[in-house]
Amino acid sequence: MDWWRRDDLHRDNGRLTLAGRDVDALAAEAGGPIFLYSEARVLANAGRVRDALLATGMGGQLFYALKANRFPPLLKALAQSGLCGADVCSPGELELALACGFPEAAVSYTGVSVSRSDHDALARRPEVLVNCDGLAMLRQIGERTPGRAVGLRLNPALGVGYGDSERLTYAGTRTTKFGIYDEQLDEAVALAAASNLRIERVHFHLGCGYLDAQMDAWEQAAAACARMLDRLADVREVNVGGGLGLPHRAGDRPLNLERWSAGLARLFAGRPVRISAEPGDYIVKDAGVLVLGVTGAERKRDTLFVGLNGGFNLHPEPAFYDLACEPVPCVTRPGATERVTLAGNINEALDLWGEGLVMPPLREGDRVALLNAGGYGAAMSSNHCMRGDFEERVLP
Ligand SMILES: Cc1ncc(COP(=O)(O)O)c(C=O)c1O
Repeated sequence: MDWWRRDDLHRDNGRLTLAGRDVDALAAEAGGPIFLYSEARVLANAGRVRDALLATGMGGQLFYALKANRFPPLLKALAQSGLCGADVCSPGELELALACGFPEAAVSYTGVSVSRSDHDALARRPEVLVNCDGLAMLRQIGERTPGRAVGLRLNPALGVGYGDSERLTYAGTRTTKFGIYDEQLDEAVALAAASNLRIERVHFHLGCGYLDAQMDAWEQAAAACARMLDRLADVREVNVGGGLGLPHRAGDRPLNLERWSAGLARLFAGRPVRISAEPGDYIVKDAGVLVLGVTGAERKRDTLFVGLNGGFNLHPEPAFYDLACEPVPCVTRPGATERVTLAGNINEALDLWGEGLVMPPLREGDRVALLNAGGYGAAMSSNHCMRGDFEERVLP
């Protein structure tokens, strides 16, 4: 049984289908690497998180973190759905969100290493909800736009990440570049007061890809943020960031959104705040696949390498963060399986899609779909080795 099977993603007589469409046939039309995204799945994912926010009884805005996937047709569909605003982290993302139909007041900006020209862009968009990532940003906002309402990004020195990975943890025992630490909070309040900035919001993003297994740690970190909030009298909104994860491997227990929402309601009960969130991956990742063609197979010593016509530069997460993408043949022929290593077409040793995988025989011309490629794939891709060409297509 395929652990990733869902109503809209499964094998039908050996042929992989997504959103009711035959993946192999769609990829054949493209010729080269192609990302396919299911719009219905994206909207359903967004609706699920929005409902979980509402279930807290303190539900504020859902923002979609478009760094995960900024393909304009998807952004337009999300904007039109009215399910969410947008979370952006650069002037380019900000302008793209507006061009795709998100109203200025429904855009939240949480950037790092914010430059003078970034501040110019923010000053031109007074309705954007700006979260300050550090004292320097707060000081600069105060100089440019005194009196502006702002949020503070908090760093509770506790965090979470998929599989407890340190690389995916954005706040923890290791000092990170993100947010304002507890011992900096008084100075932040003083800086804001000096420029008449109103701190109306706190924001925290504790890490990426957390699942049910990380919920205890997540609640502890969120509780530390709630304690910091007690020192900020004017705050009316708590943005709990993104990082909501989804299963990447057989055996991963999915995030229990009911527990997430009940935990939030408990942690922030009795405070006059709305709760918002800004997930990216959770909304788009499992709605997309990257389809690559097999270039050939060759045994070297004890390993059978199957080559694909796309490498880690098209979807860097598996190589950078060990977030595996399940490879599924677009057409599965009956017969004996073999153990293979799937290799990309980039001259880098880390360019492997998976090692020791049990797959049906694959030959030149076959196609393989890499699941969970809807987030941080195309958005993070590069033209390394001049192998950066791909298509993207949204399925209704
Ligand atoms: C501030 C902030 N918000 C939201 C996100 C989205 O995270 P995810 O896609 O894991 O939900 C990120 C990702 O790095 C982030 O840094």
